[in-house]
Amino acid sequence: MKATQAKFLCLYFLLAFSCCKPEKFSVKKHQINLGHFLFFEKKLSVNRSKSCASCHSPQFAFTDGYRRSVSALGENLLHTAPSLINLTGSSYFDWDNPGVQSLETQIKRPLYNKHPLEMGCNFSDAGLQKLFQGDSLYYALFRLAYPDSDTTFTAGHIEDCIIAYLKTLNFSNSRYDQYLAGEQSALTEDELNGLQLFSSDRLKCSRCHRPPAFTLSHFTNNPDSVYVNIGLYNLAALNTYPPADPGIRKKTLRSADDGKFKIPSLRNVMLTAPYMHDGSVETIEEVINIYARGGRKLDYGEYQGDGFTHKNKHPFVQGFTLSSKEKNELICFLASLTDTSYLANPQFTEPFSK
Ligand code: HEC
Ligand code: HEC
Repeated sequence: MKATQAKFLCLYFLLAFSCCKPEKFSVKKHQINLGHFLFFEKKLSVNRSKSCASCHSPQFAFTDGYRRSVSALGENLLHTAPSLINLTGSSYFDWDNPGVQSLETQIKRPLYNKHPLEMGCNFSDAGLQKLFQGDSLYYALFRLAYPDSDTTFTAGHIEDCIIAYLKTLNFSNSRYDQYLAGEQSALTEDELNGLQLFSSDRLKCSRCHRPPAFTLSHFTNNPDSVYVNIGLYNLAALNTYPPADPGIRKKTLRSADDGKFKIPSLRNVMLTAPYMHDGSVETIEEVINIYARGGRKLDYGEYQGDGFTHKNKHPFVQGFTLSSKEKNELICFLASLTDTSYLANPQFTEPFSK
């Protein structure tokens, strides 16, 4: 079906819905629905090349598969795109800037930032009117989302609707969740062994990736707990990460903050490779080898050095030995955190191509 036909079909359903069941399809739901379209809307970027979903694709659990994301102008950003699943309740929304404590603050960065540019949306409110002028789909969506507004589309509306949409990306239908809900058979024996290892004093994974969110960002707003150094770099044994990307040190300028990055969630971790803030770890096996060693040693390239010896490394990352059977069990457990059931719901996939 052509995009225009699809749009009209959508419009038809929307109008039919809103006429018959106004009480069921509340204004808030219409704002979420508009946010869904805007999340996938490339027109919002400076050259119409990137939407939020370009870097946060549902297929990759709302990441993009790149080591470092690629901007609307084709340039590499500093970091890899994190998953956007289950952000509700999180205290921090940035790899290395603990100042970003709400989605309201966060969203301005991809939309408007110039250095580095991500989408480079530089439209005034008047520019936005023009962008959507004559678009019957958006016109209808907007009227439903803002029945009392006599102005059309402002930047504030766009931000609010996308944020409302982000807040619906809460999924807890992995086999691990089913197990938590009491379904004993949801996890295999290997996965259960892996869960035990994950939570053990020997490995200490769950001390930082605390279930059910698998990060501390949902449990505390103390930045010292959420932003930690796990020993990925130690350039020339000078206790430094690569100078262009030194973690929260970039903001605080304190050497005690070198290499500290946010603890990411591990939900859907099998779909979010490559790993770490800079996408420098390709596979989950490699991640586990790094923890088992107590830090990463790089013997070649411009970032040579042994992360094991970085003075800021968190005391929980000391290394451990793991048999190949145990390693396999740990990976099986991480894979049980995969939940792609949301892909069956059109509300969470590309709205324009159907
Ligand atoms: C060019 C790729 C790109 C685009 C486009 C993009 N993002 Fe991101 N997003 C990223 C990267 C990279 C990060 C990590 C930023 C950092 O912390 O350095 C990120 C981080 C985030 C986070 C923080 C998640 C967390 O757990 O810390 C949210 C929320 C987010 N983006 C939402 C959006 C929304 C909404 C849009 C559209 C308005 C969008 N992004 C567009 C690449 C992108
Ligand atoms: C001291 C806290 C801490 C402990 C303990 C810890 N992690 Fe992490 N983990 C982090 C931080 C912080 C990052 C991100 C580091 C970065 O990008 O510089 C991370 C990243 C990861 C990633 C990459 C996720 C992604 O999306 O990029 C995986 C996978 C992971 N950890 C698994 C584990 C496992 C398995 C264990 C136990 C063996 C473990 N972690 C123990 C703090 C911790």
